[in-house]
Amino acid sequence: MGLIAPQAMRFQNRVAVVTGAGRGIGESYAKALAREGAKVVIAEVDAEQGERVAKEITAEGGESLFVKTDVSSEASTQAMGKAARDVYGGVDLLVNNAAIYGNMEMHSLLTVPVDYYQRFMAVNMNGALLATRAVWESMAERGGGAIVNQSSAAAWMGGGYYGIAKLALHALTHSLARELGPRKIRVNAIAPGPVDTEATRKIVPEGILKAILVGMPLGRVGLTDDIIGACLFLLSDDARWITAQILAVDGGFTMRA
Ligand SMILES: NC(=O)c1ccc[n+]([C@@H]2O[C@H](COP(=O)([O-])OP(=O)(O)OC[C@H]3O[C@@H](n4cnc5c(N)ncnc54)[C@H](O)[C@@H]3O)[C@@H](O)[C@H]2O)c1
Repeated sequence: MGLIAPQAMRFQNRVAVVTGAGRGIGESYAKALAREGAKVVIAEVDAEQGERVAKEITAEGGESLFVKTDVSSEASTQAMGKAARDVYGGVDLLVNNAAIYGNMEMHSLLTVPVDYYQRFMAVNMNGALLATRAVWESMAERGGGAIVNQSSAAAWMGGGYYGIAKLALHALTHSLARELGPRKIRVNAIAPGPVDTEATRKIVPEGILKAILVGMPLGRVGLTDDIIGACLFLLSDDARWITAQILAVDGGFTMRA
């Protein structure tokens, strides 16, 4: 055996769905999964960006399919699950990454227009459940699978409706881990601190970002590359006895005794 390890290919013959993979963190997850051999379904509402990511993966020699998907719609998520089965034969892995984030409206809980609040929750909270419902049977038929829900440190910070939706994802992670464990499907979540994406640059004021970094042990904003490892670990067989966990990937930002 050579001393130099070959490039890890942990996801060969696996099919992965990444929601909201048209840009930012979801795009990084999708490309990283493809690099390790997965066939990747880009389940994204923004057709232009979703197509672009799928094409870039294919151009690099990977396999990828864009399926226009609105995670807040049962019909749309079910159609996405069917497309994944029709084209790739089934689904093994799901990353529930889609959210209203980069173009989020800022309101207080006391004044947020109810229509907006409901739309927000339909995407950021219910979307993960609907996408899971669209693929879990296929995972079960194939002998099991793994799901990662994309939370945020904002879940623990009184982060308004954004934080409420993320904290709800923790409860969803726990309950789905119970319901799907007997089918050999693991469900975990990642709670990143601030990650330098176009969306963060747009909506997090520089002063607030600086204040966050002052108290953070590792003292710098995260890069999308900094969280890929945690996501792929939780999806991989290396994490085969790990389920119902919320993993903070945040430079030590949320430290609690
Ligand atoms: N960037 C950060 O600092 C940070 C930190 C913690 C958690 N997160 C979470 O990570 C995820 C990605 O963050 P990002 O910075 O890449 O955000 P982003 O806004 O750049 O990406 C979100 C993607 O989701 C898509 N999307 C929105 N609504 C959708 C819907 N209804 N159906 C399908 N797709 C939809 C968008 O089109 C977009 O491509 C989000 O869940 C966000 O809440 C981000």
